[in-house]
Amino acid sequence: MSLIIRDLLSSDIGPAVRLLEECRSLPDTKQTDIAQFVNDVSSGAPGVVAIDGDRIIGVIQARVVSDDAWINVVTIDPAWRHQGIGSGMLLRLEDKLMHLGVRKISALLSPSQAGETALVNRGFSAIHDLILYEKVEPIAPTAMRIVDQYGGEILSPDLWDRVAGMHAEKKIIDGRVVAPLADPTTAERVGVKAPATVLLFGPPGTGKTTFAKAIAGRLGWPFIELLPSKLESGGDSMSSELRQAMMELLQLERAVVFIDEFDEIASARERNPATKGVVNELLKMIPSYRSTPGHLLVCATNFVGDIDAAVLRPGRFDLVIPIGPPDLTARLALWEAALSRVNQQGIDIEKVAKATEGYTPGDVELAAQRAATAAFDRIREGIEPSYICSDDIDAAIARTRASVTGEIRQRFGEEAERFARV
Ligand SMILES: Nc1ncnc2c1ncn2[C@@H]1O[C@H](COP(=O)(O)OP(=O)(O)OP(=O)(O)O)[C@@H](O)[C@H]1O
Ligand SMILES: [Mg+2]
Repeated sequence: MSLIIRDLLSSDIGPAVRLLEECRSLPDTKQTDIAQFVNDVSSGAPGVVAIDGDRIIGVIQARVVSDDAWINVVTIDPAWRHQGIGSGMLLRLEDKLMHLGVRKISALLSPSQAGETALVNRGFSAIHDLILYEKVEPIAPTAMRIVDQYGGEILSPDLWDRVAGMHAEKKIIDGRVVAPLADPTTAERVGVKAPATVLLFGPPGTGKTTFAKAIAGRLGWPFIELLPSKLESGGDSMSSELRQAMMELLQLERAVVFIDEFDEIASARERNPATKGVVNELLKMIPSYRSTPGHLLVCATNFVGDIDAAVLRPGRFDLVIPIGPPDLTARLALWEAALSRVNQQGIDIEKVAKATEGYTPGDVELAAQRAATAAFDRIREGIEPSYICSDDIDAAIARTRASVTGEIRQRFGEEAERFARV
């Protein structure tokens, strides 16, 4: 049964109290005033629970007073400690609190009580001999309203580590994008300019959106995606809507603004005259992004060759980064993830990874599902083996076409030669 982290609801009070009672006598658990907890939750105080199956195994709850929040309850079932559950719950709680306009979150814990690691992991700093933990959220409540208005989110720094393999891409993005933005003072000392605009290009499903989110997560900046389809939906023309959105987002102290399927709004003017106004607007906006530190515009496309040449010129996009199909390490990790939690035997994952060049993460998932279905059908008919075997995987791979075909790979190679600027 997989673990779920979600908001604490008033219907959780019963099982949550049971956990609080169970953990009450543990020396490493923060003492909880249960009556106060029931009262707070009934009156809508924000909280988060971790659930395994139908059992609550973690509770964290806060009380909000104007723009301050106090974490009153932090309890994790002892059997579930040290697995990052505290950090996961805290991340979600922090997100909720920020949306409620909270600027400072505090928690009072004794040293080594459950939850201490989570606070440290989430960037809280200990005050007064490691007793009082505090964190000032990087985003002011007014800014959070703008983030909310555009459906933006604060993403976890862990996203970066969850991108499997892709060492070449990671090295470029880490060194050229994240590091200079995270430490502009050191970068500027040697004349390195932090990028303001980055274009990611590559075949579908190779991780462009994933990388854009991972960058925002690592920087701790809000991630706001501007959807071309949404921009069109309003009454105004797309170009004025784009300008308005991008201008408004510049008011934030920091932000990663992401435009996916960038070719749709910035295709070559002669190819798609309808986008002319949008391209002009974008060209006008880019200098504002460049002159406002703390703002990164990330665009992604599968069709870099279709983008208007004027948009691609140096001075517009600081970096143009190719994101290739998952490399061998990435495929190994993807296959391992797909097969680690199922009943399987005798599968040589390395061989499988080698045999699936051109597979995207979606392809790996599809092939793994097909192999699983074959084993499931056998089990239902009472035929052995009753687990996923090497033959199932081989058959599934034979049936599952790689999304990144030789032709696409070749085109990508040529585009990387022609357009990459890192
Ligand atoms: N290196 C990776 N490791 C693990 N999962 C990955 C990796 N790259 C991509 N994924 C997963 O594959 C899926 C597709 O990735 P993503 O949406 O980022 O691709 P994309 O390049 O933006 O695709 P598109 O061009 O279709 O927009 C996502 O579910 C993502 O989590
Ligand atoms: Mg994408």
